[in-house]
Amino acid sequence: MPHQSGFIARHAILERSPTLLFVFSLLTVSIGGIVEIAPLFYLENTIEEVEGVRPYSPLELAGRDVYIREGCYVCHSQMIRPMRDEVERYGHYSLAAESKYDHPHQWGSKRTGPDLARVGGRYSDAWHVDHLMDPQSVVPESIMPKYAFLADAVIDGERIEDLLRTHRFVGVPYTDEMIASASADFTVQADPDGDWDGLVERYPGAVVSNFDGQPELTEMDALIAYLQMLGTLVDFSTFTPDPSR
Ligand code: HEC
Repeated sequence: MPHQSGFIARHAILERSPTLLFVFSLLTVSIGGIVEIAPLFYLENTIEEVEGVRPYSPLELAGRDVYIREGCYVCHSQMIRPMRDEVERYGHYSLAAESKYDHPHQWGSKRTGPDLARVGGRYSDAWHVDHLMDPQSVVPESIMPKYAFLADAVIDGERIEDLLRTHRFVGVPYTDEMIASASADFTVQADPDGDWDGLVERYPGAVVSNFDGQPELTEMDALIAYLQMLGTLVDFSTFTPDPSR
């Protein structure tokens, strides 16, 4: 072996000690991590306020829980990347602000089915019911599983206040008023004949509908309420991204 310079020789000390090697690897990886992550906390476009973005209404939030429980994210992403093919297919690329009230976020990384970030308003409630009950009835070649049981799962919003409180605990700005009316807002969103003025005032743009067409309030109602609002909060006819970013 040729004589090695001091620095290289000292590196051998690291390579021979698993503990030291581990400590120094950790140090190196941390520096890389900080360089990548720290700017996200102050770069304008990752923290900008965007008009229209609001916390989920109680029924939408419950539907989101069904979405997570059923593992919809295993086949569907909720993030449109700023690339031409995606923007032409799904609509405006996703803004960071659009998932700021998502705990945890549903960006996903697998697209067995299409991206759902802007599926809201694309189909009727009845289409969603048919599709969730039996996807092959509307898209014959679909490999999506059936979720018909959701229409039989009656829900009463018993723990909806706690759910909102939990989200407030992790940073979603639910007000005391929103929490106090959570239970009423929860049921009235699926009852077009009810008094839903307060709900729409608290959650602008909330869709009020008897989503599953049945008299009872079910997990199907909640899930469709959630699907129908996805990507609809920001008005992209007036939103102009700052070109300097
Ligand atoms: C095994 C993978 C898989 C799972 C799990 C899955 N899907 Fe799908 N989904 C698909 C596929 C494939 C399609 C495209 C064919 C179709 O429309 O059925 C699709 C289509 C959709 C569409 C229509 C999207 C569009 O733009 O046309 C919606 C809405 C949807 N899924 C919602 C859900 C929800 C909600 C869940 C969870 C309850 C779910 N999916 C679970 C595979 C899946």
